[in-house]
This record gives sequence, C-alpha cells and structure tokens, in this order.
Amino acid sequence: MASPATDPDEIAAIYDELIDTYEAEWEKQGHRSLHLEYYDDDHEEPGSAAINTMRQLAERAAISSSDRVLNIGCGVGEDSVWNARAYGATVIGINISERQLALARENAAGHEVDDRTDFRYDDFHKLETVDDDSVDVVWGLEAVSHAHDREMVLEQCKRVLVPGGRLVLSDLFFHETGQMAAHQADIDRINDGLGLELGAIDSFRETLEAVGFTDIEITDETEPIRPSLDRRHKFARVAHPVGRVLSFANVFSDTQLGVFKGNSLIRNLVEEGVLGYYFVLATLQTDE
Ligand SMILES: C[S@@+](CC[C@H](N)C(=O)[O-])C[C@H]1O[C@@H](n2cnc3c(N)ncnc32)[C@H](O)[C@@H]1O
Repeated sequence: MASPATDPDEIAAIYDELIDTYEAEWEKQGHRSLHLEYYDDDHEEPGSAAINTMRQLAERAAISSSDRVLNIGCGVGEDSVWNARAYGATVIGINISERQLALARENAAGHEVDDRTDFRYDDFHKLETVDDDSVDVVWGLEAVSHAHDREMVLEQCKRVLVPGGRLVLSDLFFHETGQMAAHQADIDRINDGLGLELGAIDSFRETLEAVGFTDIEITDETEPIRPSLDRRHKFARVAHPVGRVLSFANVFSDTQLGVFKGNSLIRNLVEEGVLGYYFVLATLQTDE
C-alpha cells in the first residue's frame, strides 16, 4: 500500500507544481531533465552536466539501436528522447502524470523521435500497459526512490524483460541500512517533501538477487553528482526562508517549499557521508 508520500497522485501533484519552477531553467539550458547533473572535466555547466548523466548511464549500459527500452518514471521525456536520438533505441516511457506525459510527447516530436518513442500512463509497480518478455532494457533514472515497494517494481521489471535483458538504474541510496535509523526525522521530511521512499543500497542489492537478477554491478557515483546537490542546496537556502516569510504573497507553494527543504536535507546527508548516488546495472537470469 502506498504511504501518502508515495501515493502516485501525490507524486504527480508534486512534479506538476515543480515543473512551473523548472520551465525557465529548461529554456535557459536547452533540455528538460528532472535528474541530478553529473559533472566532470568536460561537463562543468548544469546544462551539459545534466545531459552527461544520461550519457554516463547509457554508455555503461551499452544502449544500442537494437534495444527496446522501457523507461520507468520517464519525467517529461528527456532521457527517453536521449536514448532514441543518441543511440537509435526504441523507447516506451511510463509515468503517473498526464501533464508530464504530454510534455514528453511534445519533447519527442520536437526532436523528431516521436516514431521511436511511446509515452504511456502506467505505474511502475504494475506495468499494466507493458507485455511480458517485451523489452531488452528497463531504464530508471532517479525513479525507484519513489517506489513504496521495490520488490514489486523489480518483479514487474523481470516480467517485462526478455531473458538476458538488462536493468539500468541510478538513484540516491543510503550507503548502509544500519545508518538510516539515526536519521529518521530527516528521512521523513525528505520523503514527505519529495514523494520519496529512501532506502539503502545493501538491501536493494538483496532484493535484486532475491528477484533473480545477476551480474549486479553497483558503483558509487556520489562525487560527480555532489556539485548538483550543492547547487540545489544553495537555491533552497535562499528560496525556503524567503518563501516562508512571504507566504502571504504565494511566492512559492507549500509543496515547492517542501521540495526545497528536502533537497537541502539530502545534501546535508550526503555531506555527512551516509547518503550517496549509485548506478546499478544487472541482468535478468536466462532460463536454462
Ligand atoms: C526524478 S524524476 C526523473 C525523471 C526522468 N527519468 C528524468 O531523468 O528526467 C522521477 C520520475 O518518476 C515518476 N514516478 C514516480 N513514481 C512513479 C510510479 N509509481 N510510476 C511511474 N512513474 C513514477 C515521476 O512522476 C517523475 O517523472
């Protein structure tokens, strides 16, 4: 059962309000991503670093033109469009927000990959619109941290993947389950503000193994993501108090203030060394 923080309608409502704050930035940076930026020597600006996150993950996963990719939690289409444009993959993107799906279709048409992308309303705990054994890759860029039941999501990924299919995810995770109890108050505020259900990477690995994924490769990518968290934190440090003081003027909604606060707390937990950013690659065991 979804808690209020991970109820699909609540999550959709959070993103629908956030999009209002993102649109100006998207215009400036020339992309529509909802994920953290991956900085390195060649990608030092937020726009190119956001595109770099998709590139880094796609290259590790060796996405190619023969891949049928299912993007769980596809945002407004940016990472689906990327995989279709850069690698020629065919992509189904699913999401629980009609507003995001409409923007995703517009995004794909604008980049002339609407013939290779298909955006559907679906919940990644159910995948009701996706057939058994029908995709080569399940891709989730910062999506599973919204899942109230990771095992249910992974069971669905297993159902729709062909034997030997690949799972490709990136997300925030605690480094160890044992570190979480001491931070429960912050975790609750982050989860409430951002519609998340933060978990730890060790228990996620156990769930992957229990569901039947093999060749599990987990890499800690916190360092290249850190400047992105700092950027959100700097914005939140100004926007959160200003928004609260000027609440009578509705500069920011309570939902937006909850997101800003959540982003600051995430950055603090990363600075404390308990929360990190991970890439997760795995293969679905073939039946032999
Ligand atoms: C951080 S955003 C990432 C979006 C996109 N992958 C990107 O990189 O721009 C997380 C996305 O997951 C979606 N999402 C959350 N819960 C979901 C669910 N139960 N089923 C499908 N999508 C979901 C949200 O609506 C949002 O689009």
